[in-house]
Amino acid sequence: MRHFLTLKDFTKEEILEIIDIGLEIKKNLKLKIYKKELENQTLGMIFEKSSTRTRVSFETGMFQLGGHALFLSNRDIHLGRGEPIKDTARVISSMCDMVMIRTFEHSMIEEFSRYSKVPVINGLTDSYHPVQLLADYMTLVEYSAEKNIVAAYVGDGNNMTHSWMMLCAKLGFELRIATPKGYEVDSDILTQALELAKESGAIITTTNDPQVAVKGATVVTTDTWTSMGQEEEKEERIKVFSGFMVDEEMMSLAQSGAKFLHCLPAYRGLEVSEEVFDKHSEIVFNEAENRLHAQKGLMVWLNKQKG
Ligand code: CP
Ligand code: NVA
Repeated sequence: MRHFLTLKDFTKEEILEIIDIGLEIKKNLKLKIYKKELENQTLGMIFEKSSTRTRVSFETGMFQLGGHALFLSNRDIHLGRGEPIKDTARVISSMCDMVMIRTFEHSMIEEFSRYSKVPVINGLTDSYHPVQLLADYMTLVEYSAEKNIVAAYVGDGNNMTHSWMMLCAKLGFELRIATPKGYEVDSDILTQALELAKESGAIITTTNDPQVAVKGATVVTTDTWTSMGQEEEKEERIKVFSGFMVDEEMMSLAQSGAKFLHCLPAYRGLEVSEEVFDKHSEIVFNEAENRLHAQKGLMVWLNKQKG
């Protein structure tokens, strides 16, 4: 049995296999072919933070695979009132076939998975957002943009950046990260990614200059400057991040035809200009839709590993 907590624990072949399964499922869905590969199975979904895409994609995906998903907000379950994580894990995993968790500290999901009898999927923690990267890479494959990737991540050194680093380290492409001073990526995660990059040939660089990162890039991506849980810092962040908006001028430094990705929700006029967002909205909303297909691929794959 395997958990899906970060891409660090997966090989390149496994990541590509999950995406292939997701692409096949997407193709079938468009033909109205539904294979009930998770019939009678239940996915428990614990949400300690808000969500639009993650909730809708997992719940819909599970239904389409013949299973059922349970939305468990921490306002409604005893976890939010102090029931230990290990007890919650034992109970939920004795009834559900898989568990998806969106939470704050990554250590919560690690502890939960130690006590869980069924696969645990990370639906976002403060440190990582790996299911989003499955959808992002699937989108690049669909747009034939997965060869010789030079990706530029412009913005906050956050959960999305860390997951880009792990995807890059595993698949072996080039990633340039531009963050303001003081908002760099986690140094331990960077060290781990650089260590993994030695094996794959990936190149990961960091800078405080977004123009250096974007110059010649084939993929440009960003994320909100204020992640969930950081709402009180919003005003300060808007000041610090000025100069980090992905606008037409910044995109003009990238290779012509460069793809723009955004995990959403997007804040136009902050991390991305209205013009850049509108110009690239087709790929961005396809990226959002691919959350559904990529995660169905992941759940089918995890189910197979149970044997
Ligand atoms: N990108 C993403 O995870 O969106 P939600 O927060 O809406 O789930
Ligand atoms: N970095 C953002 C991603 C939202 C999908 C957050 O954690 O809020």
